[in-house]
Amino acid sequence: MPNSAEVKVNGQSYELPVIEGTEQETAIDISAFRAQTGVITIDPGFKNTGSTKSAITFLDGETGILRYRGYPIEQLADQSSFLEVSYLLIYGDLPSPTELAEFQGRITQHTLVHEDFKKILDGFPSTAHPMGVLSSLVTALTAFYPQSLDPNRSWEEVNLSIIRIIAKMPTFAAWSYKNQMGHPVMYPNNNLDYCSNFLHLMFGLPSTEYEVNPIVAKALDKLLILHADHEQNCSASTVRIVGSSQASLYASLSAGINALWGPLHGGANQAVIEMLENIKVDGGDTKKWMAKAKDKNDPFRLMGFGHRVYKNFDPRARIIKKAADEVLEALGVVDPVLDIAKGLEQEALEDQYFVDRKLYPNVDFYSGIIYRALGIPTEMFTVMFALGRLPGWIAQWKEMRENKEPIGRPRQIYTGENERDYKPLSAR
Ligand code: SDX
Repeated sequence: MPNSAEVKVNGQSYELPVIEGTEQETAIDISAFRAQTGVITIDPGFKNTGSTKSAITFLDGETGILRYRGYPIEQLADQSSFLEVSYLLIYGDLPSPTELAEFQGRITQHTLVHEDFKKILDGFPSTAHPMGVLSSLVTALTAFYPQSLDPNRSWEEVNLSIIRIIAKMPTFAAWSYKNQMGHPVMYPNNNLDYCSNFLHLMFGLPSTEYEVNPIVAKALDKLLILHADHEQNCSASTVRIVGSSQASLYASLSAGINALWGPLHGGANQAVIEMLENIKVDGGDTKKWMAKAKDKNDPFRLMGFGHRVYKNFDPRARIIKKAADEVLEALGVVDPVLDIAKGLEQEALEDQYFVDRKLYPNVDFYSGIIYRALGIPTEMFTVMFALGRLPGWIAQWKEMRENKEPIGRPRQIYTGENERDYKPLSAR
């Protein structure tokens, strides 16, 4: 591949540098293009535009490859743990046994949240969607830890902010659920591992002894690993661009939570189950719903299908589909929507519309079925996605800061009115 590209603008040729990544991906570097030509490029939704160079996650949409810091997602899902993967994403490599123990130890020192957070929680009605509660509680961390407001402080202080949010996120996530249920909140139990503590916070009650099911905890740990990062997706890009203004880590993460909330992104896992439930209530006629998904006059889309990058199977969907069968069998759960999901998948994989557009199940298609089997309510599914994606967002924010990237400020092509004079009210 030549290391330059030639572009002709208004009859004049310009040479642009071409850069190549460690997996032989190539990009035309247009950072000097506007200065040279007076012309910008435009790409709504940045479908074909790179925003940065990153060493965190590699994915190949054509072949369905996903690796965190070079390690295949299949191996990490099978052999690692969510906290170990969090360390890998944030600090760049797998920890030694001592490093992992120290990391886990530091996290357990910061799981408790200030009692005044309960006053914030009390301000939300039980009708509040847990994602809105979660993003508010994360932003509120800046009030309790004002030193976190300045991302330019020492690395030790920035790293303490990182440890704090990893430690407190399970508490915030569980409290957003308790608020919806009108139940008393629970306090973290540092004798439990990360996922068992979350389940204790979610389903424990002061009046009863909650026994964590190890199958549930293990399945949850695998799901969090699968959601931990996904390069420059909508919410990670949001975290990076908010952080590029030197807003705090917590402000950037709260923005990422809100970006994830949308049904085209992390909110899809909730939308998938709602869709499957609708199909079940409607008599299970998947052919009717497939026709709706293909009908351009019908706003309905097959939720959990399609992806901006994967034009093959999302490797995470393969792993989650297998885990769904295993978890439901182990828990003795029979969920009719799982059969509906499998039926939809089979039909879509044989349907020309989906084949032509390379639409395959994505990470959200089966994840809700496992969450449901674990007893997690539908409106909490996207909160679970945020809990998993937290280390990825932190890693992306940290990399952007370390690379000293400039504030994000895209250009535009103006299509409004040309200059015109103001008309006083009497003349209109
Ligand atoms: C996540 O980016 C990431 O990495 C995200 C994520 C992560 O880990 O961070 O992987 C997590 O967000 C997964 C995606 C979850 N969203 C959904 O499942 C919602 C349903 N999917 C679609 O809305 C859609 O597939 C997107 C948003 C995921 C991707 O949309 P694109 O890349 O902008 O593609 P597009 O909308 O331009 O679609 C191309 C064509 C269109 O048809 P034509 O105009 O060419 O005729 O495919 C059609 C679309 O109408 N299409 C679908 C469809 N998805 C795309 N048609 C029916 N059902 C669908 N689900």
